[in-house]
Amino acid sequence: MSSRSLFDPLADAYDQARPGYPEQLFIDLELLAGRPVAGARAVDVGAGTGIATRALLGHGARVLPVEPGAVMLDRLRRHSPGLPVVRGDGEALPLRAASVDLVTYAQAWHWVRVPTAAAEAARVLRPGGSLAVWWNDVDAEDFHWYQRQQERLEAMSPGYTRDYRDRPFADELRWTGLFAEVTTVTCRWYREIDLELYETCLRSKSFVAGLGDRLEDFLAAERRSLLRSFPDGRITEPFRTMLVVARVP
Ligand SMILES: C[S@@+](CC[C@H](N)C(=O)[O-])C[C@H]1O[C@@H](n2cnc3c(N)ncnc32)[C@H](O)[C@@H]1O
Repeated sequence: MSSRSLFDPLADAYDQARPGYPEQLFIDLELLAGRPVAGARAVDVGAGTGIATRALLGHGARVLPVEPGAVMLDRLRRHSPGLPVVRGDGEALPLRAASVDLVTYAQAWHWVRVPTAAAEAARVLRPGGSLAVWWNDVDAEDFHWYQRQQERLEAMSPGYTRDYRDRPFADELRWTGLFAEVTTVTCRWYREIDLELYETCLRSKSFVAGLGDRLEDFLAAERRSLLRSFPDGRITEPFRTMLVVARVP
């Protein structure tokens, strides 16, 4: 396994500017997993700088973060000194069989091969345990500023399409045959941030970093476009958070 992640050079921007997760997500997670998060033994895979890890800890779970990127993991350690962490990969979890109640992937499941990572999750879960995967997707298709941004990215970022995460994630998990029940739930929320932080958040995205030497032109065009829609420089960013929970028998 490489000690690097595509995200390592983006770790500081990521840490500063990526959104957290709404409270509703944890309410839905408890409902779909059929157990409280508090007290659960959880492994948070693709933990990055620890945004979801800290939220799970805040809800009382006992969390082991697993992350392949050394720099991302270093930021996580700084936030949670003393918390045991593992540099590892979701496709080969360094855990005993039937040892955890929850396997979580926040914003990270699209980075693994489903058959391999699903089998690993099912292996480490106790009977009745759950694999929970979730994403914050920007929910702004109806807004001009977002349309302009997506058009610009599709024109400038090699291989980027706005529907890159548009996959039948729940069906993919059902098709593995490993889970007794797979359920999806979505909630909507928004945050309001200033233009500077919004720009930092853009910089933390792998497909924005992929712009290479066109990055600064892209960001200058974004600034002009965003200020047309948000003249006071306060950006309202709407999200749709999708949670898929797959329970083992
Ligand atoms: C978008 S970040 C999500 C970070 C964090 N979970 C959060 O909520 O912000 C995706 C993370 O998945 C990690 N990742 C990529 N490939 C992975 C793999 N095969 N196994 C585990 N994690 C992986 C990346 O290093 C990165 O830190």
